[in-house]
Amino acid sequence: MQNTKKGTHPIQVKTFENPQEGAAYLAKRIADLINEKRDEGEKCVLGMATGSTPEPLYKELIRLHKEQGLSFVNVITYNLDEYFPITSDSNQSYHYYMHRQLFDHVDIKRENVHVPNGDLPKEEVEAYCRSYEEQIEKAGGIDLQILGIGHNGHIGFNEPGSDENTRTRLIDLDERTREANARNFGDINEVPTQAITMGIHTILKAKEIYLMAWGDAKAPAVKNSVKGKATKDVPASLLQFHQNCTFVLDKGAAKELN
Ligand code: GLP
Repeated sequence: MQNTKKGTHPIQVKTFENPQEGAAYLAKRIADLINEKRDEGEKCVLGMATGSTPEPLYKELIRLHKEQGLSFVNVITYNLDEYFPITSDSNQSYHYYMHRQLFDHVDIKRENVHVPNGDLPKEEVEAYCRSYEEQIEKAGGIDLQILGIGHNGHIGFNEPGSDENTRTRLIDLDERTREANARNFGDINEVPTQAITMGIHTILKAKEIYLMAWGDAKAPAVKNSVKGKATKDVPASLLQFHQNCTFVLDKGAAKELN
C-alpha cells in the first residue's frame, strides 16, 4: 500500500529491461524539456547527480548532442554534492567526474555549470552553502532533478537522519558510503569523511524529480523508499513529499516492488 500520510504522494515507477533503456527514457524527457525551454526563450535548470548510476544517462545525452543536435546552450546545471575537502582537479572529485562524463562533450557554457566547491576553508563553508541555495533560487529553481540512490537510501549525500527540512550543508559521511565509494579512491582511508550536499528540502523544491537505480543491490533501498513510510531513516522515502517524482529502474532494482 502507498503511504497515505497527509502531504505524501505515490512515487511513480517506470521499470525497464536494462539501464540503457531506462537511461534513454530519461534522456528523452530531459532533451524534450531543454528544447521546450529553448523554444520559449528560457533557460533549463538541471540538478545533476554523480556515481556510476547516471553514466548511461550522460552517454545518451552526449549521443543526442552529437547525433541529433541536442544543444545545451540554454542549460544551467547545479550538482547535488561534492566531497569535502577535495580540490576540483583531483580525479576523485565530482567536478572532475562531471566534466569527464558530460560537460567536456557537449556545448554547455562553462559559466552555467555549478558543482559545490569542496576546496574551501571550513569556516567559509556555511556561508558558501547559503549562497549555493541563493544561486539556485536566482536561476529560477531547478526544473528537473536527477538522482541516484545509496544502499542506505541516501540521495545526494543526505545520509539517514537527514530530514525534509535540510538545506545545502556539510555532512559527515556514513562508513557504508565511504566503503562503497572507496573503489574510486583506492583505499578507504583516502575517502574524505565529509561532503557538501544539497539538502532534502533543496531537492524537494525541484519541479520534477527522477531517481535512477540499477541492479539487485539497490532493490531493498528502492522498496523502502517507494513502499515504506516517509522517514528520515530512508532519505529517498522523503521524495514521497513531492508531487512529481518518478523512479526509473531496471528489473533488478525493481524486483522487490511486486
Ligand atoms: C554517491 C553519491 C550519490 C549516488 C550514490 C550511489 O555517494 N553522492 O549521489 O547516488 O552514491 O552511487 P552509485 O550510483 O555509484 O551506486
